[in-house]
Amino acid sequence: MSGAALIRLRGVDKRYQQGELAVEVLKGIDLDIAAGEFVALLGPSGSGKSTLMHILGLLDRPSSGSYYLAGEDVASHDDDRLSELRNRAIGFIFQTFYLVPYLSALENVVLPGLYGPESGRHLRQRAEELLVQVGLSERLDFRPSQLSGGQQQRVAIARALLCSPQVLLADEPTGQLDSNTSAEIMELLAGIHRRGHTVILVTHDHATAAFAQRRIVLNDGCIVLA
Ligand SMILES: Nc1ncnc2c1ncn2[C@@H]1O[C@H](COP(=O)(O)OP(=O)(O)O)[C@@H](O)[C@H]1O
Ligand SMILES: [Mg+2]
Repeated sequence: MSGAALIRLRGVDKRYQQGELAVEVLKGIDLDIAAGEFVALLGPSGSGKSTLMHILGLLDRPSSGSYYLAGEDVASHDDDRLSELRNRAIGFIFQTFYLVPYLSALENVVLPGLYGPESGRHLRQRAEELLVQVGLSERLDFRPSQLSGGQQQRVAIARALLCSPQVLLADEPTGQLDSNTSAEIMELLAGIHRRGHTVILVTHDHATAAFAQRRIVLNDGCIVLA
């Protein structure tokens, strides 16, 4: 599909049933994101940003509408195919890092590879390279509790890159960090984007959004600026 968007959503709705009431969280989302873009997704709390990220990241399915990822009609995939595609194509970073507390930085980065075909030795080598790349060469054996928030997010970024995902999804990755540390993490994400990854970032913060090339604004489940 040359010239086609890496991500293409058409008429995507997401509804939750709350007793008698159907809550419409996403309403008719149309969105194209090209390979290699760096997009910031903004909008007030409760506007549907995380819900949209979950759909983009194949963690959840639309109630209706279509999602093509690299030309594949994702709606037609069963759960196994969806998780296989997610492991191969998507990396996630979250506000609260979600590191495993009793594992070292290196072991945390290796973890998502354990479900794939790579040997343990190869995975550890790749994890080490990634930790060097995010500036943690001196911290390979540290546990999360022995690292600062910014360092923990660096570990999470290295982990997200382990399987060389096409798309990196970051849901408020600097939400728990001070402004200097936030800027460092955003520099790191900008560098990852320059090396060819597609990056989609949710943020409340306009200084953080300024690192992206394009801004999308959600309000009450609708895109109001794209
Ligand atoms: N599993 C769910 N069941 C019911 N409502 C939900 C569920 N997940 C999210 N919502 C609702 O969807 C709306 C959007 O949530 P979310 O996508 O987390 O917003 P944001 O990330 O922009 O703050 C909120 O009103 C939230 O209460
Ligand atoms: Mg959210």
